[in-house]
Amino acid sequence: MINKLAAPCNIVVFGGNGDLAIRKLLPAMYYLHRDGHLSDCTRILGASRSNLSREDYLDLVRKGLDQFVPETYRDEETWQAFAKRIDYVAVDATDESSFANLAQALGSEFSDQTTVYYLSTSSRFFGSICLGLKANNLVLPNSRVVIEKPIGTDYASSCVINDAVGQAFEENNIYRIDHYLGKETVQNLLALRFANALFEPVWTNAHIDNVQITVAESVGVEGRWSYYDDSGALRDMVQNHLLQLLCLVAMGVPVNLDEDAVRAEKIKVLKSLKLMKPEEVTENAIRAQYNAGVAEGKEVPGYKDEEGGRPDSSTETFVAIRADIHNWRWRGVPFYLRTGKRLPSRFSEIVIEFKDVPHSIFPRSSNLMSNKLVIRLQPEESIQLFMMNKVPGLSEGMKVHPVTLDLSQPDHTPQDRVPEAYERLIFDVICGNSTLFVHRNEVEAAWKWCDAILEGWQSQSIPPHTYMAGSWGPQAAFELVAKSGRSWHESQ
Ligand code: BG6
Repeated sequence: MINKLAAPCNIVVFGGNGDLAIRKLLPAMYYLHRDGHLSDCTRILGASRSNLSREDYLDLVRKGLDQFVPETYRDEETWQAFAKRIDYVAVDATDESSFANLAQALGSEFSDQTTVYYLSTSSRFFGSICLGLKANNLVLPNSRVVIEKPIGTDYASSCVINDAVGQAFEENNIYRIDHYLGKETVQNLLALRFANALFEPVWTNAHIDNVQITVAESVGVEGRWSYYDDSGALRDMVQNHLLQLLCLVAMGVPVNLDEDAVRAEKIKVLKSLKLMKPEEVTENAIRAQYNAGVAEGKEVPGYKDEEGGRPDSSTETFVAIRADIHNWRWRGVPFYLRTGKRLPSRFSEIVIEFKDVPHSIFPRSSNLMSNKLVIRLQPEESIQLFMMNKVPGLSEGMKVHPVTLDLSQPDHTPQDRVPEAYERLIFDVICGNSTLFVHRNEVEAAWKWCDAILEGWQSQSIPPHTYMAGSWGPQAAFELVAKSGRSWHESQ
């Protein structure tokens, strides 16, 4: 629960009528408003190229809330009060002179309070928006900018964007958002690892056999075909969300929870990721695209036949990768990363699989399995430790079987609604807390590792594997793990 009132501020959302803003950002601000975390003077300004009136924009926002905020949390009075905070301004990101509209909308008292510019647009506009703001004197020491992933499409383009943003804003006022870092269980990972003496001594290659990180989605591209096709699963999910999860699992103990300390440990991990040579990519980075199939009980088209699709696309909608971290703690421990669209169900999970006992003293018939710590991020959050236990009762010899130790939080009551990731993160930006945001060095190190994979795929010009919508991906993803005698954890 967030239990604080943030200081007054202006929040300007570029791309304010886009999918992310309507689906996630405005609902998150609505919750912050509803739960009393926004000061009375906080204003929200939607901005985009479209010529919309304030009424048109409010209409869009309201429809979004009706769709994405459960009815229990909506009522007319709260909406009316929230709507009073909202205004709209047309700004063309590519035309510096149109920022005058924004200056006017922000008004003469603009400099008295913090302004947060949230760039919910394609990253190719980040540079021009920031430079447009600067040229129109809209960047003050108390102005902050939030930029969405993926920043660029590779290392080189991300540097160009980061340089342009850096010409307008100081690094400490740049908030690179990765909404996975705002998820409750992701933050809990830090507590699990560093508030308990139990795990840290065994959190090394001496005791851990492998780590698996899966982010499975049952949805397809949800009407975002052209964005997704330029991106693909590697850029859309792995470069940011999955690598951030990997960092939190693999990092060393930070000296404290300050942003610099936490980021420094994450950067060390990213820099230790072994870059793949082109010939290693086919072996260790499986990409695939879905064909028509059945997902969530419905027949669904293949990726190329989705709305807006093109028949010649070779964009991957699934990846399974073996990542290796070359440092003292993790040498020899594979980190398997897997993500895809149109898989049989939606869940995100981190599995830490420990090594087998060195020698079994139990009867062969015992189903002796290695210990696993399974951290489930969504849809429900849970932490479970799989352990071996004696089969109760009289039996010949001592048989053991796996049991689960549940470390999950007790059930929340409706009053204890767990904040959505974006709520936590927007609140942190307003408060000036950047611990859960990503530093430029992290983005760049992550791109360098991904670039090696992208180059490998390109140089071999091998088409992606295919998988049926509603399946767990191509056979090659199972072989990736099986060739070292391992298998994906089956949690269903
Ligand atoms: C976004 C990706 O960053 O994360 C989407 O662009 C993806 O393609 C989404 O669907 C998944 O987020 P979550 O929070 O629903 O797991």
